[in-house]
Amino acid sequence: METNAFMESQEVKDFNKKIEKDELGPLWNAIPELVSKEPAQHAEPYLWKGSVIKEHLMEATKIFTPERGGERRAIYLQNPKMKDREPWGWGAATQNIYAAVQLILPGEEAPSHRHKQSALRFIMEGEGAYSIVDGERLFMNEGDFVVTPQECWHGHGHEGEEPMLWMDVLDIPFIYSIGGSFFEGYPEEGVQKPERADNYSPNHYQGGLVRPIKDRKPKKAPVGTYKWQQTKEALDGLEEFDPDVYDGHAVEFINPTTGDTANVNIASWMQRLPVGFRGKAHRHTNSSVVHVHSGSGYSVIDGVKFEWEKGDFFVIPSWSWHEHVNTGDEAVHLFSVHDTPIMETFNLQHEEEYKDGHQEVNSVFQP
Ligand SMILES: [Fe+2]
Ligand SMILES: [Fe+2]
Repeated sequence: METNAFMESQEVKDFNKKIEKDELGPLWNAIPELVSKEPAQHAEPYLWKGSVIKEHLMEATKIFTPERGGERRAIYLQNPKMKDREPWGWGAATQNIYAAVQLILPGEEAPSHRHKQSALRFIMEGEGAYSIVDGERLFMNEGDFVVTPQECWHGHGHEGEEPMLWMDVLDIPFIYSIGGSFFEGYPEEGVQKPERADNYSPNHYQGGLVRPIKDRKPKKAPVGTYKWQQTKEALDGLEEFDPDVYDGHAVEFINPTTGDTANVNIASWMQRLPVGFRGKAHRHTNSSVVHVHSGSGYSVIDGVKFEWEKGDFFVIPSWSWHEHVNTGDEAVHLFSVHDTPIMETFNLQHEEEYKDGHQEVNSVFQP
């Protein structure tokens, strides 16, 4: 907006100060920023090394033991541009998405609870741990995707041999900003006891292809676990087709009963960038958090090069130009989450292609 000398004058400043004392605000000065021409970027592009997070989590195992009462041993990605928000930086990786890494040791349990926030998990390392969701134990292995819908009781346990690491994603900052949080601890101590057979829903639904004949009513998320082998086969099937120019070969996890996204507020994808893939740049109003499941390469976000490898995480803020490149000699797998369902619900989803296809790289990101 053009600067208007009068709006910066002493007369205006004095008047603004005067109304401020009565808890009132001057729209004439506020409007260009409050009703911005384009989406304001609440978050900034950022990258976290997986190795750094893991090191902190291993140290945390010695400090934060289950007996000491913490609900969860998880370290979240705090977007530097949002860390001053009270309380706790809103747990914001982007303005709507919370993303963390949780570590559970063999024999440990994380007590059951439920909340209005809906959760999803992506298993980074290990095997033998389970999430118990509304009385059903879902065993998790590397590459599996797990949903814990809003208001479902959930806790975790670990019957394996090695530390287990997974990515947790919730709509915490979004729910916080609109004032919708409710939380409840399970009425009994510890983890809920199993009430049905282990892996009941993934076995009965076979990845969403069929359903039990007595189970015809739509459900929040009937499948619970999406096994890596099935996701991989879905991507293998796409290999003979041209990849998407921006995202490579990519699939979204869905609720097979409704066809909607698997988690109501946050869409989850598995993307494969073939060897030599160089994606074009685009931007959209939804923000994204990306986890590198395998391979190496870089993304250019708003002219800055973010180099990544297996285990790393990075954030693509709303309305930031971005493009992805595979520089390795194997296919890259990216697990990514997007607040697209929120933006679509409020009719705010917009996308735009970058006119020259690729951005100029101005600098290389250093954490
Ligand atoms: Fe939870
Ligand atoms: Fe994108």
